Amino acid sequence: MCGIFAYLNYNVGRERSYIVEVLLNGLRRLEYRGYDSAGIAIDSDMRLMMQGKPYDTASPLVFRQEGKIENLVTSVYSEVHKLDVDLEKLFSVHAGIAHTRWATHGVPAPRNSHPQSSGQFDEFLVVHNGIITNYEVLKQTLIRQGFTFESDTDTEVIPKLAKFVFDKACDAEGGVTFSQVVIEVMRQLEGAYALIFKSPHYPNELIACKRGSTLLLGVNELGGETSRHLFHDVKALTANDKPKELFFSSDLCAIVEHTKNYAAIEDNEIVHIKDGSVSILKFDYEKEKPASVQRALSVLEMEVEQIKKGDFDHFMKKEIHEQPDSLTTSMRGRLKDGVVGLGGLKDHMRTIRRSRRIVFIGCGTSYHAALAARPIMEELTDIPVTMEIASDLLDRKALIFKEDTAVFVSQSGETADTLLALEYALDNGALCVGVTNTVGSTLARKTDCGVHINAGCEIGVASTKAYTSQIVVMVMMALAIGSDKMSTLAKREAIIAGLTKLPEKAGDVLKLDGEMKALAESLIDKQSLLMFGRGNNYATALEGALKVKEVALMHSEGMFAGEMKHGPLALVDECLPIIVIATRDDTFSKQQSVIQQLHARKGRLIVMCYKGDASLVCPDGETRVIEVPQVADCLQPIINIIPMQLLAYHLTVLRGYDVDQPRNLAKSVTTQ
Ligand code: F6R
Repeated sequence: MCGIFAYLNYNVGRERSYIVEVLLNGLRRLEYRGYDSAGIAIDSDMRLMMQGKPYDTASPLVFRQEGKIENLVTSVYSEVHKLDVDLEKLFSVHAGIAHTRWATHGVPAPRNSHPQSSGQFDEFLVVHNGIITNYEVLKQTLIRQGFTFESDTDTEVIPKLAKFVFDKACDAEGGVTFSQVVIEVMRQLEGAYALIFKSPHYPNELIACKRGSTLLLGVNELGGETSRHLFHDVKALTANDKPKELFFSSDLCAIVEHTKNYAAIEDNEIVHIKDGSVSILKFDYEKEKPASVQRALSVLEMEVEQIKKGDFDHFMKKEIHEQPDSLTTSMRGRLKDGVVGLGGLKDHMRTIRRSRRIVFIGCGTSYHAALAARPIMEELTDIPVTMEIASDLLDRKALIFKEDTAVFVSQSGETADTLLALEYALDNGALCVGVTNTVGSTLARKTDCGVHINAGCEIGVASTKAYTSQIVVMVMMALAIGSDKMSTLAKREAIIAGLTKLPEKAGDVLKLDGEMKALAESLIDKQSLLMFGRGNNYATALEGALKVKEVALMHSEGMFAGEMKHGPLALVDECLPIIVIATRDDTFSKQQSVIQQLHARKGRLIVMCYKGDASLVCPDGETRVIEVPQVADCLQPIINIIPMQLLAYHLTVLRGYDVDQPRNLAKSVTTQ
């Protein structure tokens, strides 16, 4: 988690305070990654404001604040005004770094916020996304060298190490470049990180590097075509050079409003920006000198509207209501003349069809999406499908064979557990397939092949439209893998016909919004909510319950209805609300008897069924029903989850909780 961001401009002629706005706005875009605290460091002219510092160059001004970004915004502007210095003069060099934090080491507090500092005079400042696993050892070594630590973070060792390296090199050689300092620091660090360094010893320069965590570079050459290539030779800007803006970010959504030209930085690369030129170096433990790297820029296919709420109060609501469109985009160009074409899998289809089994791997909602797709994958492919929660697979060191196809499902493509499971599966020789929403993500880059779900940017921390698009993509995968089997032709044709009507049906089910709000009103004070599903809709019960617990902060459990008699039945009374999913499929009659048994024990039932089926599923005239449109069995989880998402949304608003940024959570879980 955590989001890092940086901005530099050259020859741009912006208002000098513009940099503060860009940094704070970048943080607003990344806030979904963590909202425990935030901070920025910007260049300032120390001669104007600080006395007694040992440099005659620009010295950074640092702000850190606990809580959400808006707290930081308030504090930055009030502090700056207190300084009684003309903003125009204050921000004389346009370079700054920024961070939004999801606390791992140390409570949310200003001292644990980033930028973390080397100590007095902020000679080195660092923002960090990831975890340094050997920080205790480094900390003890640095303490022995006379450093004192102020925070409880793992990050603080990094700027202190940089200062140690810098001082040592200056004593010995009388000079060292910024990249030499950072390379030496990287040599000592273990764990996962994306880092941005800033130092008054190197005014006008920024360095970023990464191992594990995501780091993107955005380039905006104003008033001209941005060159498609970044060259490694660092040359000083001349008066004729084009105005230029450069950005570092953990996510493209913080860059898109400035530029569509970006480069994904690879592991062990160091990006050095000096006087508007970019050099990329590749670090290697074995070699003393890093090699220069040339990198082509990619063009981002994302519109600014995607990262804005538009007319909606919350991103979660917007994203729920976008599902007819996101489902359409997920299928676009992939269904032609009754045939599914998935270009990303084409070259590996033979291997997939011959695999001994398919293993679905993911976390949270993505795991649930895979679970929803499992029955149809098994049915159409005749290949056994097993399910693995990524962290559990790693804990157990579960058996993965080279004859396996391992399918990794992740909205962000950056979830640490999923990525570690991917490394494990690659090491074991399995064919690794990615299903992700994020182009350029680590998952997309490290898997052998895969399919993008194309659901569009998802910003609400609770995943909604990505879930339904993940299922649709995995159903299409099942159709493509099983397309060589004549025995299932009729079934496949029916599903493909169903897919074409799916967006319209999703639009129909969204009309239940008002009904779900009324249901939420009746549940607002409840302590707990159970959801029973089975077959295709066991996943719906798990996912519906996850939505309610994570945003409405109400205890909720999704249960396999077949297990009801084996324990959960003891909970049933007149108060505990229970949602039973009883849309008609092969398990319908079993669900009918579950409803009867719950009714006999005076359970407070809410039944989800097909439109017109109320009399079939309700043992009396009083049971509340949620009537949904009918689609092919394997697509029904896509329709059935939508009322649950709406219910979770309304419950959250009515209970007065934060919809888009639920307590303690962050969208990309980039730490284990
Ligand atoms: C719940 C939710 C999480 C994620 C999980 C995996 O709404 O969003 O459970 O699904 O953290 O994230 P990704 O899909 O990015 O790997």
